[in-house]
Amino acid sequence: MSIKPTRREWLKISALSGAALAFTSFDFKPEANAQNNSGKLIKLTSNENPYGFSLKARAAILDSLSEGNRYAHPDLVAKLEQQIAEREGLKAENVVLGTGSGEILCMAAIAFGQKEIVAPNPTFQSLMRYAENLGAKVKSVPLNEKFEHDFGAMTKLVGENTSLVYVCNPNNPTAGLSPDGALRSFCSETAKKTPVFADEAYLEYTDDFPRNSMVDLVKKSENVIVSRTFSKIYGMAGLRVGYGLARTDLAQRLKKFRMTWFNNLSINAALASYSDVDFLTQSRRRNAETRRTFLSEMDKMNLKYAPSEANFVWLNTGENLSDLGDKMRAHNIWLGNPRGGWARVTIGTNDEMQAFVKALKQIKG
Ligand SMILES: Cc1ncc(COP(=O)(O)O)c(C=O)c1O
Repeated sequence: MSIKPTRREWLKISALSGAALAFTSFDFKPEANAQNNSGKLIKLTSNENPYGFSLKARAAILDSLSEGNRYAHPDLVAKLEQQIAEREGLKAENVVLGTGSGEILCMAAIAFGQKEIVAPNPTFQSLMRYAENLGAKVKSVPLNEKFEHDFGAMTKLVGENTSLVYVCNPNNPTAGLSPDGALRSFCSETAKKTPVFADEAYLEYTDDFPRNSMVDLVKKSENVIVSRTFSKIYGMAGLRVGYGLARTDLAQRLKKFRMTWFNNLSINAALASYSDVDFLTQSRRRNAETRRTFLSEMDKMNLKYAPSEANFVWLNTGENLSDLGDKMRAHNIWLGNPRGGWARVTIGTNDEMQAFVKALKQIKG
C-alpha cells in the first residue's frame, strides 16, 4: 500500500536530498538540516538517516570522483571486506559485499530460498517476494501479541521442504528487538535443519548491538547468514552498499549469484564511514532522543505503538485513518497509508517529527 509520488514530488525529494547532502558535507547539525526541509516534502517512509552521511564519506567520495571512469579496484573491495571481517572477528572470505543489503537478500533467495521459505509476518518482504517470483512457496507466521517473532509457530512450520528461514531483527515494520536469547536458540536449532537468514539492517540503532547480533553463530560456523547495510545508520541509502556474513561455504555460494560489480565511489565512502565511530554514535543518540520525544507526544495523544529500538515506529492510527498517508500529503509529509490501522513512521529530525505531530493533530481534529 505504499504511495507512488508524482513526478513533481520526486523532483522535490531529489532537491531535498541534494540540499541535505550539501549541508551534511560541512557539519552534523540536524537542526540546520531540518531548516532545509521547511516547505519541502518531509519523507517519513523509507527509514533513512535524516542527517545524511559521515563527512569522512563525503571527503572520500570527492577524493575518488576522478576515479568515476574506473570500476572499483578489487583491492579496494577486498580492503572493505577485510575491515568488516576484522571488526566481526571473521575472515574476509566470510564477508559478501552487495549493492545494498537488498542484493544480499536477492542472492540468498536465489541460492537458498527456491523451495520453501518460513518467515514472520509482517516483515520486510524483499527476499520472500524475490523468491516467490522464482517459484518458491512462502509460509508466513504472524507475529505474537507483543509484535515478536513467534518462534514456536515458526519451528512447527520448518519441514523437509524448507530451504530457508528468514528473521528480521529489529523487525521491519514493527521496530522491536527480539529477545536475544530466544532468537539465538531459534536460529541455532533451526540452522541444524536449514539455512537461517538474519536481517540486521537496523541492529546498529540498538543500544548493545554486538550482543544482539547473530554473528556469533556465523563465527561458530553454524548455518546462519547475517545481513547488514550502510543504508540505515550510516546514512548511505542512495549509495547502495550492504554486506552478508556467513561461513565460507555459504558465502561462496552467495557470491556466485552476485548481480553486478560495485560502485567505486560508494565503496570508498563505505570504507571511510566504517571507521567513523563518532558519526555512528551521534546518529544512534540523535535517533533515540528524537524517538523518545516523539513517543511522549504519541502518549499525550493516547496513541498506541509497538516498542521501538530502531529508526521508525509502528504506530496505531486506528481504523478510521486508513488514508492517513494521503492526508499527510497536504501537510508536505510523505508517509505510507496505514495497514490494518497501523502506520510505519520513520524517525526524522526533531523539526520533521514536530511537523508530523502538528499535522496528525490537525488531521485527527
Ligand atoms: C529490514 C530491511 N532489510 C534490508 C533492507 C534493504 O536495504 P538496502 O538494500 O538499502 O541495504 C531494508 C530497506 O529498507 C530493510 O528495511
